[in-house]
Amino acid sequence: MDSAQAYSRILALRKLLSENARLYYVENAPVMSDYDYDQAMHELERLEDEYPQYAAEDSPTVRVGSDIDEDRGRRGGDFVQRPHKYPMLSLSNTYSMEEIAEFVSRAEKSLNTDFSYSCELKFDGTAICLTYKGGELLTALTRGDGEKGDDVTANALRIKNIPSKLKGSFPDSEFEIRGEVLMPFSAFDALNAEREAMEEAPFANPRNAASGSLKLLDPDEVGHRGLICTLYHIPAQSVTFPTHDDSMKAAESWGLPVSHERRICHGLDEIRDYIDYWDKARRELPYATDGIVIKINELEAQRALGYTAKSPRWAVAYKFKAEQALTPVKSIDYQVGRTGAVTPVANLEPVFLSGTMVRRATLNNADQMELLDIRVGDSVYVEKGGEIIPKITGVEKSLRPAWAVPPKFPERCPDCGALLERREDEARHFCPNQLGCPTQIKGRLLHFCSRKAMDINAGPATVAGLYELGLVRTPSDFYTLDAASLTRLDGWKEKSASNFLKSLARTRAVSFERVLYALGIRYVGETTARAVARHFGNIDALAAASVEELTLIPDVGETIAPSIYEFICDARNSVEIQKLRSFGLQFSIGEGDQKTLSPALEGLTIVISGNFTVSRDDIAELISLHSGKRSSSVSSKTSFLLAGDKPGPEKLRKCSELGIKVIDEAAFRDMLPDRGATHSSSLPSSSGAQEPSLFG
Ligand code: IVH
Repeated sequence: MDSAQAYSRILALRKLLSENARLYYVENAPVMSDYDYDQAMHELERLEDEYPQYAAEDSPTVRVGSDIDEDRGRRGGDFVQRPHKYPMLSLSNTYSMEEIAEFVSRAEKSLNTDFSYSCELKFDGTAICLTYKGGELLTALTRGDGEKGDDVTANALRIKNIPSKLKGSFPDSEFEIRGEVLMPFSAFDALNAEREAMEEAPFANPRNAASGSLKLLDPDEVGHRGLICTLYHIPAQSVTFPTHDDSMKAAESWGLPVSHERRICHGLDEIRDYIDYWDKARRELPYATDGIVIKINELEAQRALGYTAKSPRWAVAYKFKAEQALTPVKSIDYQVGRTGAVTPVANLEPVFLSGTMVRRATLNNADQMELLDIRVGDSVYVEKGGEIIPKITGVEKSLRPAWAVPPKFPERCPDCGALLERREDEARHFCPNQLGCPTQIKGRLLHFCSRKAMDINAGPATVAGLYELGLVRTPSDFYTLDAASLTRLDGWKEKSASNFLKSLARTRAVSFERVLYALGIRYVGETTARAVARHFGNIDALAAASVEELTLIPDVGETIAPSIYEFICDARNSVEIQKLRSFGLQFSIGEGDQKTLSPALEGLTIVISGNFTVSRDDIAELISLHSGKRSSSVSSKTSFLLAGDKPGPEKLRKCSELGIKVIDEAAFRDMLPDRGATHSSSLPSSSGAQEPSLFG
């Protein structure tokens, strides 16, 4: 390679690595496998060493990957950024035992005292830096770009094993401790199942899910994600201990979560045993790990070795290779879902991987297919790292058959033939023929019947049967069925028809929030449906709401609000809602559920910020129960800012700029009858069971 070739390779690698780092840290949707990423980084390091004339300050070899979303920054920023007291660096890593041996011999040569190693798991989550002052949690920052991170304190306080107060008494000084926020496999599975049911793209792995969850804007939602934290590093400048191990033991005595899988090792053999043990044993752990971290234990020795621009010289990570298999792609299917999203799925030559047979792997969307440059006939690498769902991580181009041509994403719906659409801000293609596409129609009917929706005795076969017979197209058609039409279904007798009709009759008692969920509005899951139902109280108020008003509801943002608005405005949907209403379904919160408790806050527009004695959703509910209006941002129309503990500094600044009052929770409660003690959760739940049944 001559120097010109080296230069162009360097530029290509920098571009590849930067783009992938962005997908990994910001979008939480990595495309390259960790292994390929690390190999590309090592190649770039070698080239920059060999051709120092091409060194650059902003090369990915000298800068840590940033989790700060620059675009959001330009839009005003979702989190306040704060500088790190000590830079948050990364670790140099390797997949080779020889390089671990070199690390050990280098350390032995340069340190002329006795020292030991702390071997620990390399947790595969997202880094966090906690600062405690006087024993109380002051801030929680993400790694960010290493120099400054996003302030996610309100979210960190919802992670169950992060203490807000430490055990024991502490001087007023600050100290820092760093670690990883993780999503255990069980929580990851539950979250992805929920997302798939909603036809939202599932998270690729627990790491992305943890990082995405830590950056949610609603701390209550963060609290529901099942995140945990494990801490593994107190910067040596922050507190003085003889060894790293001592600092971890102290942290544990203060009530901080530290890992019990650490071992103090002496020499390469013990390190190797630790690695070999965890290479297998890690499969039994309830969370993802991607390697072992080996640290020099004595802090004096750490100080002697120091740091490079990007990582400490006193530590190294040995990374486990994800189990991989190479297998040919037999075909690619394009599957249509209930909301019309079209997902490409690769059918693979079955291959055994980490204990299961893999036959199919999702390709997510057209962009992903293009990035992989995948073709039918290609041999592809399938990986199951931390992930449960196997993932195609690359194509072995050397095995590409001459006949393989790039696949063409279908222009038309594979089911109904309608021209597919792709909105600018959507990675996925959608079939717009919502009312005519059989898969979408059956998907919506099935969703309407599902347990969490109307809980009707009808599975996929029944729904398909009723559809084929031409008896049902929309949910209201279910209510026109009688025993005679139902017994036309294969194998259905009087008894099954009567059971079905009974389950249908029961749906008249189903609450408005579940009816709203059952309608199958894109992006509206159970939680959103509940929030919307409670906010508006009935379908007419909801139908009259603007997109702007919809966004005032917690968790309803720029995607969900227009989706609800468009659904309700579509004349065909209002006809359907009218029909369901005439069949007796609930389109308002029950009589017993008053929408408001008092007019105390009538005409007031209130912005809330910070943490309260109850959740923010509960405060929002109090506002609406007492006839107030919540708004998400401070403007001249804001009546006052209701500030809890640690309110957003941007909001405070805006209030002082516009001369808007800021009041605390106590003053707010003073405005309410009984100080807001009567809370909606104590209200009777809706029920229409006493009304005469349509079906006798
Ligand atoms: S120590 C100065 N210990 O791996 C470096 N890091 O790829 C201090 N990580 O940024 C980090 N497990 O987010 C350390 N037991 C462990 C770790 C660990 C996971 C993460 C950490 C770091 C990244 C480097």
